[in-house]
Amino acid sequence: MTADHALAASIEQLKRERNAVILAHYYQEPDIQDIADFIGDSLELSRKAASTSADVIVFCGVHFMAETAKILSPEKTVLLPDLDAGCSLADDCPADEFAAFRSNYPDHFVVSYINCTAAVKAQSDLICTSSNAVDLVKQIPEDRPVLFAPDQNLGRWVQRQSGRELTLWPGRCIVHETFNEDAVLQLQLEHPEAEVIAHPECQQHLLDLADFIGSTSKLLGYTETSSSNTFIVLTEPGILHQMKQRVPHKTLIDVPGVDGCSCNACPYMRLNTLQKLHHCLETMQPAIEMEESLRLRALEPIQKMLELSL
Ligand code: 13P
Ligand code: SF4
Repeated sequence: MTADHALAASIEQLKRERNAVILAHYYQEPDIQDIADFIGDSLELSRKAASTSADVIVFCGVHFMAETAKILSPEKTVLLPDLDAGCSLADDCPADEFAAFRSNYPDHFVVSYINCTAAVKAQSDLICTSSNAVDLVKQIPEDRPVLFAPDQNLGRWVQRQSGRELTLWPGRCIVHETFNEDAVLQLQLEHPEAEVIAHPECQQHLLDLADFIGSTSKLLGYTETSSSNTFIVLTEPGILHQMKQRVPHKTLIDVPGVDGCSCNACPYMRLNTLQKLHHCLETMQPAIEMEESLRLRALEPIQKMLELSL
């Protein structure tokens, strides 16, 4: 047995002993995706965290995802293999600065992308993810002005799709802002038959090149339903692991960052490793903890999202 197989077997054993479930986002390393009980986008993972009967949720994703799981399932132990697995969007929106910004728009309905801290969620009327943002914004009464935070690229896309004017907080994802437009144009020249598919966190000039835009799950689904056999994929390349399994006969091309760097890989998501996953199940640490009054304030807009999403 190889060291990795032994580690995976030990994780399975610990998982049974703890009555734990392993949830993983598509941006996790392939070895983590392979051992997960459930892989999904932010919305699907939230739903799973709310409905699981396990005692322990091991969240292989980033901090705001594990925090959302804890908000939805406070009686469960929620473990995050590496507590430093943050998100540039959450970091770009400190709760005190957001409160000051919001106070300039007292009549606005506040929609926050799930990629934010519990303290920002607690100041929001509604949470959304990349898969339901357009649909949810369309449901807000027409006469109510809307403030959208923290991702300005997603916000601008939602604005275009919904026809609603949004006041935007200027946050950005360091991964989705790194994609190189020239590289996409070059790939399109080399593969004229390819469809470009993109996550809405990308900048507008890249989304303008896309044939299809959607959350990670929607991008994955599109590779299956589209008649195209080649895709240029504008999101974190972790998603390619599932795509390769679902459409093994199709060609999937990821796009480098500017200067050809590998910064298209999310440095936060990639902090989680199989070793850290094993360690957290063994020690039951690090666990997400939260003050109850904050949890209850953050829960309300998340619950509203789950009720309003199809
Ligand atoms: P999804 O909503 O597609 O899961 O995206 C989450 C994310 O962090 C993308 O960068
Ligand atoms: Fe955050 Fe971007 Fe990483 Fe997603 S890819 S977790 S938005 S930093």
